[in-house]
Amino acid sequence: MSYPYQIKSIEEYKQQYKKSVEQPDEFWGEIASHFKWRKKWNKVLDWEFKTPQISWFAGGQINVTENCLDRHLDTLGNKPALIWEPNNPEDFFRVLTYKELHFKVNQFAQVLLNNGVKKGDRVCIYMGMIPELSIAMLACARIGAVHSVIFGGFSAQSIADRVEDAHAEYIVTCDGAYRGAKDVALKSVIDDALVRCQFVRRVIVCTRTRIPVSMIKGRDVWWEDEIKKVETQGNPFVEPVAMEAEDPLFILYTSGSTGKPKGVVHTCGGYLVWTNYTFVNVFQYKPEEIYFCTADIGWITGHSYIVYGPLSAGATSLIFEGIPTWPDAGRFWEIVEKHKVNILYTAPTAIRSLMGHGEMFTQGHDLSSIRVLGTVGEPINLEAWNWYNKYIGNNSAPIVDTWWQTETAGILISNLAGVTPAKPTYATLPLPGVQPVLIDENGKEIESFGVSGNLCMKAPWPGILRTTWGDHERCRTTYFATYADLYFTGDGCFRDQEGNYRITGRVDDVLNVSGHRIGTAEVENAINMHEGVVESAVVGYPHDIKGQGIYAYVIYNGTHGDAEQTRNNINATVSRIIGPIAKPDKIQFVNGLPKTRSGKIMRRILRKVAENELENLGDTTTLLDPSVVDEIIQGHI
Ligand code: WT7
Repeated sequence: MSYPYQIKSIEEYKQQYKKSVEQPDEFWGEIASHFKWRKKWNKVLDWEFKTPQISWFAGGQINVTENCLDRHLDTLGNKPALIWEPNNPEDFFRVLTYKELHFKVNQFAQVLLNNGVKKGDRVCIYMGMIPELSIAMLACARIGAVHSVIFGGFSAQSIADRVEDAHAEYIVTCDGAYRGAKDVALKSVIDDALVRCQFVRRVIVCTRTRIPVSMIKGRDVWWEDEIKKVETQGNPFVEPVAMEAEDPLFILYTSGSTGKPKGVVHTCGGYLVWTNYTFVNVFQYKPEEIYFCTADIGWITGHSYIVYGPLSAGATSLIFEGIPTWPDAGRFWEIVEKHKVNILYTAPTAIRSLMGHGEMFTQGHDLSSIRVLGTVGEPINLEAWNWYNKYIGNNSAPIVDTWWQTETAGILISNLAGVTPAKPTYATLPLPGVQPVLIDENGKEIESFGVSGNLCMKAPWPGILRTTWGDHERCRTTYFATYADLYFTGDGCFRDQEGNYRITGRVDDVLNVSGHRIGTAEVENAINMHEGVVESAVVGYPHDIKGQGIYAYVIYNGTHGDAEQTRNNINATVSRIIGPIAKPDKIQFVNGLPKTRSGKIMRRILRKVAENELENLGDTTTLLDPSVVDEIIQGHI
């Protein structure tokens, strides 16, 4: 497969960028023409941010799996599409060629049809990192069902919220999942979740760990049994459904500064074009290369850069079931050596954690296959960047620092590996089609260089979110109402003299813990559900490995036993309500929270104390009771 739209030089980047801004219709129309459409579009782009109303390739019809699978069969049929590396290095790995993956996706698409799933139905997927997860997603896309993948670390309560919000009548899960030394009982979590979701018609359970599960008569079926039925039907080819370009492809829930997580909706045409274009250009993928993204498919990084981007480009995408530190901190490097990985895409939190374990785990592994390195999820600190560059990249592999969000579907700001220059800790330059602007505290655009502001986008790119499921108004107020006619990212950002962008972190009440987005309000709600808790306030603080840690101030009037025990109990509640990823790292018990006379919590003060900046807390005179501040400082942990 060749990529006529792969940018090969800085000059070409500049020229393509200019064209994308000046003539977006011509630019994206040309790129889209390299995909397989059932029907050509009438209009490339139509948009208005105010409402928002965004449409790409309107009138066009396309099926994403036809582009990820069928169109490669003649030329790449025997090329590995997926390489699956199991949790335990002593178990066998699996390779699925494009032909085999196509076959399995057709089989499972037929399973979905046999179980009553129709175009437009929502299918919730809660599985570990096994090839069947990608197969389930692609099978949905093939028949036009809308998948909603939920990360395996979320609790029953979180699943129930999401299944209810999307009214997903179909669930695909596993008996369990392996993660390092642990195994997680996924089906049992689903059973707890579905007590609240009686409308669910079918649960399809794939075997992985063989942990005992209870199967509900009339509702639950085994993946393997359903496949056998399809085999006796003679393994039919399932015709990929021609979808409107703007039909939804999937929903992915993500946290914001208020309320429950919202279901970000991405649509077929624009999402496909954007993930493919960014994959091919940022990583500069070459046809024979092995590409390994370490993210979990339960997050947007896995959707876009394990499944849809790489497969649509005919790439070989490696899926790893386990974790970086088990059986030891050399696991990634063992995989790189074993499969001769050429492109590695991971998160700063993983790099910091492995750096902490020391170089002895990289030594002894042949990492010479590595050509390109990437990072995503949070700002990368210089120390981690240098370590990654030296010990993994041998001071020669370009590092792409890719800035983007669940809402953007794919990478918006990044250098292009080996084509445009890297600058450590900077995401650098916008991709073609991306028009960043910085906004000052008065809501005015700052046009100069060497300045910081809130990062917004002036115009849509093909992968921008279209709505939030079931609540378009929430999409408008969250992203398009802060500044008129702009998409607001929620991030703060610095622009240097050359126009390079450096993302400095969230400016809203959203935390980034190990590259996972967690809303402080959500964590507070979970803590407040614990017996004896009167009120709480949650802020982030710098954490050596996680990037940000969760610091909770809690007013507690329950039975006072051992403080440590109470902390553990509160953590257990948070785990139950959201999932273990949202557990506070520190809990400080307080008698009062710093509130203004209007009752608003002054988070600035709480943040400073959590960051251990105990002096210069700023003006506290507007507080209702300034004495609580002293108590908070005294009790700082
Ligand atoms: C937030 C989006 C993008 C997929 C993973 C996270 C932060 C992401 C970078 C980067 C600095 C980054 C931002 C963004 N972020 N990439 N390269 N440098 N910050 O997706 O959960 O939607 O979170 O992650 O704060 O807003 P997400």
